[in-house]
Amino acid sequence: MLRRKGTCYKFDTPHTSLVIDTGKNAEILYYGPTIRSQPEYSIVRPELDWAGNGMARSLFSSYGSTDFRECGIKLVLADGSSATHFVFKKVKKVPRPETELPFSYGEEDTLRFEFLDEYAKLRLCLYYTIFADTDVISVVTELTNVGKKSVHIRKISSLQLDLWGDGFTFSTFDGSWGIERQRHDSLVTSQLFVNESRTGTSSPFHNPFVMLSRENEVYSFNLVYSGNHKETVEGNACHQVRFLSGISDSFFDWELGAGETFVAPEAVMLFAKTEDENTREMHKFVSEHIVRGRNKKKVRPILVNNWEGTYFNFTHDRILEIAKKSADMGAELFVLDDGWFGKRDDDTTSLGDWFDYAEKTGGIATLAEEVRALGLKFGLWVEPEMISPKSELYEKHPEYAMKPLKVDGTLMRNQLMLNIADKTVQNYIVRAISKVISDTKASYVKWDHNRYMTDPYGKDIQSGEYAHRCVLGLYSILRRLTEKFPFVLFESCSSGGGRFDLGMFSYMPQTWTSDNTDARERYDIQRGTSYGYPPSTMGAHVTASPNHQSGHASPLETRFNIACGGLMGYELDPTKCSEEEISIIQKQIKFYQKYRDVFFEGTFYRLDPKDGGEGFMFVSPDQTQAIVVGVVKNKVTARTNYRFTLKGLNPAFNYSVRTREQANYQGELSYVAGGDLLMQTGLQMQNIFSDTENRFNSIYSRMYVLKRLS
Ligand code: GLA
Repeated sequence: MLRRKGTCYKFDTPHTSLVIDTGKNAEILYYGPTIRSQPEYSIVRPELDWAGNGMARSLFSSYGSTDFRECGIKLVLADGSSATHFVFKKVKKVPRPETELPFSYGEEDTLRFEFLDEYAKLRLCLYYTIFADTDVISVVTELTNVGKKSVHIRKISSLQLDLWGDGFTFSTFDGSWGIERQRHDSLVTSQLFVNESRTGTSSPFHNPFVMLSRENEVYSFNLVYSGNHKETVEGNACHQVRFLSGISDSFFDWELGAGETFVAPEAVMLFAKTEDENTREMHKFVSEHIVRGRNKKKVRPILVNNWEGTYFNFTHDRILEIAKKSADMGAELFVLDDGWFGKRDDDTTSLGDWFDYAEKTGGIATLAEEVRALGLKFGLWVEPEMISPKSELYEKHPEYAMKPLKVDGTLMRNQLMLNIADKTVQNYIVRAISKVISDTKASYVKWDHNRYMTDPYGKDIQSGEYAHRCVLGLYSILRRLTEKFPFVLFESCSSGGGRFDLGMFSYMPQTWTSDNTDARERYDIQRGTSYGYPPSTMGAHVTASPNHQSGHASPLETRFNIACGGLMGYELDPTKCSEEEISIIQKQIKFYQKYRDVFFEGTFYRLDPKDGGEGFMFVSPDQTQAIVVGVVKNKVTARTNYRFTLKGLNPAFNYSVRTREQANYQGELSYVAGGDLLMQTGLQMQNIFSDTENRFNSIYSRMYVLKRLS
């Protein structure tokens, strides 16, 4: 809800308030838990510091003022100067601007704060948006050249949030291939902390989701963007902390011609008193206001993907056998991964040749029909933004590749990227992928992206604009394809979770979380991911043991338990499973189907390490059911005593607590306990040594089902 008192504007979300005063210029007077009245300007506004530095909590900052901290906007004007002085002009209730970028949707109200620099002839507009059902606040920054000469944007942050206080922790979610989104905490001091991606994508190295927190204050931030990004935090001696987030300014240089407008990617921010509340609100926001389309509310099919089962080495008959066994297991969708097109027998060839490798598939359209005849849906893997130098496409159109024509270009995984900033290339991709989907009537598409941007080059495109223009090109392709095929379930992927961001989720409701499916390591990846993204966005598969990435063995039931922390599926060759394993998988699938609503719609909680145990749980919206996965990450042989404390139950309800029937666990547990007790004392894992398989593994897990007793 929006309220105005004098020059103050108060945004109220369900649990928070943000107050912006426009009396002097425009600054934040308050951001935190809901307050009843507007704060008095004189109570909260700080003085200038002794050095005369600006102390206001401004909505933005630019070069050339007395604010010497890292600034959000850096420009080079036509006369070569860079100082700008934007003066507040007006505020208005408006719709959000039209742009080629994806935005969140379903908003309640938007206020536009407008500023002008008379000398530079630039108009800066900041759109603050609130939603009726979530505490997330969205900010969009837009710069318009109202003069007659071009200016260069060297940096434009999407969001600035100035906070007061010391002792903040900056949490980032970093990693690499196979070790995505590991949480790292840094104590904020008087220096600049940087979280940045320069790969052309949001990257597995530094996710754009970050948090700033201290006791009773947890702020989290994200960008609706899939390209290079940068988040910085800077503390100082005067108890100030500045957070900035937006497109990375490394190599960024955008020429803004007369009359043109640049809209920066949408940023979102969220305040909550605890990490759990922050996570819950962020999950709600992503599920309700980012993920969209016909699959948004639909529980996702249980799939079998053949990648780790066969890699490139398959034939029509082998795939059909796998599909048959998948149907016997109870799977709902079969996904044919890499290797079905061109002459693709390994990763050195054929990207771009999106036509059937008929000798291998026996005719992809026929194979799709045969799979459907088994009662399964059919899905396919594609990697449309890429080109193999060894391909028909490259022979015909070497100019489509991202690099100057006469340069060889840097190969990664033996491939180049396509110049998707170019309209002709965009049209080619849309045409080629549309044909694949139409020919096979695929109901699922895994959209992969297996390398980073090097040799950025597109004819007639300035290099400082190139990376962002590629992201705009990608969004245009995705918009066209998802509008054309609204029923198709798209899963994004980038060598696993290398492009796990709100931009991709605006088109594709789920992403393959990581290529690393080792139960122990995957647990950490999913846990890190869960701070910013709900389990309903995370592809999570049970794979063979020993694990292909780590070489570690883990029980089938533990692999399933961990995969239930996301969208559970299987990625193995079921024809190689023993009868016993097939029967375990059949039971797992039945169980998952029975409780799929709880997994898909339930509230997710991370269980904190306590007395050796941790894990995660889902609680149904009415709190009558819960599924708990208790995890011991580093089991020590002689230590038997592990406990974890539950969350999100109704303290007034009594619950029956049962272990899911697990093949390797004989000591059945069944008792009744109050929600209050379970959230206070927690669950003690019983009979660890009765587990036949689990006792020999370093990761130990057990799943429990809780039901309210009427
Ligand atoms: C990437 C993906 C894998 C698989 C392979 C196929 O690595 O992350 O899941 O699809 O490509 O080449």
